[in-house]
Amino acid sequence: MTYEALPDRTLDKRELQALVDDLATRPELWREQVAFSDEERHYASLYRDEYVDVWLLCWTRRNDTGWHDHDISSGAVGVVQGALTESNPRIGGSHLSVTVGAGESFCFGPEHIHRLTGATDDAVSIHAYSPPLWRLGQYDITEDGLMRRISVSYADELRPLDLPVDSSAA
Ligand SMILES: [Fe+2]
Repeated sequence: MTYEALPDRTLDKRELQALVDDLATRPELWREQVAFSDEERHYASLYRDEYVDVWLLCWTRRNDTGWHDHDISSGAVGVVQGALTESNPRIGGSHLSVTVGAGESFCFGPEHIHRLTGATDDAVSIHAYSPPLWRLGQYDITEDGLMRRISVSYADELRPLDLPVDSSAA
C-alpha cells in the first residue's frame, strides 16, 4: 500500500500497516519534520483525506500518551528510529508492555486500548488511522483500579490525565 495507490474507502488495519511500512522506507517524505521536545510530543500531519490520516510523531522518554483508544478508527504504527513502549491495560493485574524498535510495526482495531511512551530519547514513528481520527477516548485509572473514559478531540495532545483525586467535590 502506498500513498499513491490509496483506495477510495476506509482501510483495514493490515492495509494501514502496509502503508506505514511503505512510508518507513521513504524518509524523504518525513525526515525534515523530525524534532524532539521533552515538554510536548512533537508531531506533524503527513497526510489527511476522507478515509485516512497519517502522522509523524517524535518521542523522548518523557513523552507519554496516557491510556487511550481511537474511537471508531483502526490504526497502525511503524517505528523508524529509536524505540517506543506500547502498553495495554489489564484490570486487576500487571499491564502488558512491549518494546517496538526501529523497523518494526503493529496495527490494531477500534477495540484496542493502549499507551505509548518513548523508550529512547530519539524515537520517531509513523501512524496511520482509518477512518481519520476525530475523537479519541482518554482513560484515567485511579490507584484503586477505577477506569474512566473521557472523549477528547484528535487536536488535543494526548497526555496522562491528572484528575483531582476527590472528584466527589464536582
Ligand atoms: Fe494510539
